[in-house]
Amino acid sequence: MGIVVTGVGKEIGDPPTRILSDIAFRIDDGEFVALTGRSGSGKSTLLYILSSLDRASSGLVHIDGFDVNHTKAETLSHFRNQHMGFVFQFHYLIAELTAFENVLFPARKTGAERTQSAYAEALLGRFGLGDKMQRLPRQLSGGEQQRVAIARALVMKPKYLFADEPTGSLDSVSGEQVMDIIRDCNTQLGTTVIMVTHDPDFARQARRQIHLADGKIVSAA
Ligand SMILES: Nc1ncnc2c1ncn2[C@@H]1O[C@H](COP(=O)(O)OP(=O)(O)OP(=O)(O)O)[C@@H](O)[C@H]1O
Ligand SMILES: [Mg+2]
Repeated sequence: MGIVVTGVGKEIGDPPTRILSDIAFRIDDGEFVALTGRSGSGKSTLLYILSSLDRASSGLVHIDGFDVNHTKAETLSHFRNQHMGFVFQFHYLIAELTAFENVLFPARKTGAERTQSAYAEALLGRFGLGDKMQRLPRQLSGGEQQRVAIARALVMKPKYLFADEPTGSLDSVSGEQVMDIIRDCNTQLGTTVIMVTHDPDFARQARRQIHLADGKIVSAA
């Protein structure tokens, strides 16, 4: 069913500033899309709207068949917990929980902690953090924290993955590692991936690039 946006605009503040205009596209199930554009072009704002974490000021957003404006908050939040993974531009790990507990956190919310615990461990292992699972976020480097946040987004094997600069604070080797895992989720589990990135090499690995400038789509090849 994918994600369909029609005529989406976003204004913020008073007096309102226009951040997005006339955004329209469709992302089919199983696609891997890169959202690109300069700093301030509206990528994060659009990603939040695509993932139902923020509302458009105008236009329609359908996620997996739900019309976001006409779906109960409870229904959407249940769907998000079960089927969506998020990697935010700033990782927002829970300071009091270990790396392992942070990764398992989405499973805790849905009562799937036991079934996903081995997978959480496997993900941390693949990210090179097998020996750091019991550390608190402040005992990890920025790049390690970012990998924990990505493992957390993947732990539920989500149908949709929304990632905002997932390789932003990583060196090239860890960045490649993260891209490999995201690509595997896409090809092996069929996860639909929407990824914001500044890195042209990573953007090219996506099957499609949607390029924004000043809040408008300039190309969607
Ligand atoms: N809450 C807000 N209030 C006012 N302006 C905002 C708000 N959030 C974002 N903006 C503005 O909207 C524009 C788009 O912001 P957004 O965060 O979507 O950009 P971005 O493409 O993700 O940039 P970056 O690559 O730097 O992360 C920017 O000009 C930003 O200053
Ligand atoms: Mg951003």
